[in-house]
Amino acid sequence: DWTPAAFVQETVEKIKAQVGDKKVVMALSGGVDSTVAAELIHKAIGSNLYCIFVDNGLLRKDEFETVLDSYKHMGLNVKGVNAKDLFYGELAGVSDPEKKRKIIGRLFIEVFQQEAILLQNISFLGQGTIYPDVIESVSVNGPSVTIKSHHNVGGLPEKMNMGLVEPLRFLFKDEVRRVGREIGISEIFLGRHPFPGPGLAIRILGEITADKVAMLQEADSIYIEGLREHGLYDKVWQAGTILLPVQSVGVMGDERTYEFTVALRAVTSVDGMTADWAHLPYEFLAQMSNDIINKVKGINRVVYDISSKPPATIEWE
Ligand code: XMP
Repeated sequence: DWTPAAFVQETVEKIKAQVGDKKVVMALSGGVDSTVAAELIHKAIGSNLYCIFVDNGLLRKDEFETVLDSYKHMGLNVKGVNAKDLFYGELAGVSDPEKKRKIIGRLFIEVFQQEAILLQNISFLGQGTIYPDVIESVSVNGPSVTIKSHHNVGGLPEKMNMGLVEPLRFLFKDEVRRVGREIGISEIFLGRHPFPGPGLAIRILGEITADKVAMLQEADSIYIEGLREHGLYDKVWQAGTILLPVQSVGVMGDERTYEFTVALRAVTSVDGMTADWAHLPYEFLAQMSNDIINKVKGINRVVYDISSKPPATIEWE
């Protein structure tokens, strides 16, 4: 029978045996998975783990700075790389979701590879792949149909000619959290909702611009902070804000406005494979709607997504 303590002990031994005194490079995302994986590897090989955290300009408001700081406090050897302009440049004019994912995946690999080359003599690539990533990428991405390309699975090792260290490959999300708790990772990381690799790019339907990212970051930050303040954040599995490619009419004073709509999404789930929309209190939703419309310039309408998965998905792209 599985216990976090036994898993940690066994896994640290395995990593030591696999890696020896060689070096591992790993990309951190700020999410639970990569953080727990990095800490396990760090436990096994210490300063031979080199971490890279890329700012693709598609993270939540202030996320890059805050998370980079926390990593440093955890003692991880981490380099933050600002690549925002590169990502915005290549995403300009692209609205197809799969194209966005491919561009983001490719750029991420390019930036990561460049950084890894600078490090020299790296033999292994660490990854926070968990079991649902493995099954989804096998069953969903058949040879003819690609429903969704998860850029955080595969791709890197073949290109980089490195061995792979994936300590969480057979765990589900709740097990990852239990392991994280076992090795003393802060609840701020462990309780964090999952966030997709392509980030806000797939929560801005259609074309991405720096202005739209900034608008969505503001609205999303109001929503996420609101969930925290009302004690709702930990009651949902994932939440986020989606910027719709729709403008609709509104009034502000004597003026008619013609501005954007955001959809608020919150779901309950065990592993993200199926999900129910979260029955958030109307009073809370009303307050979020007011706050967002009053504080975020360019948004005059807020809707709440009441679709479950299946047949809908958690994300809108
Ligand atoms: P869906 O939208 O398929 O999402 O119900 C299920 C879970 O996967 C996340 N997701 C992604 N994660 N790259 C990722 O790393 C992606 O392209 C991607 N698309 C969806 C989503 O946020 C949810 O947690």
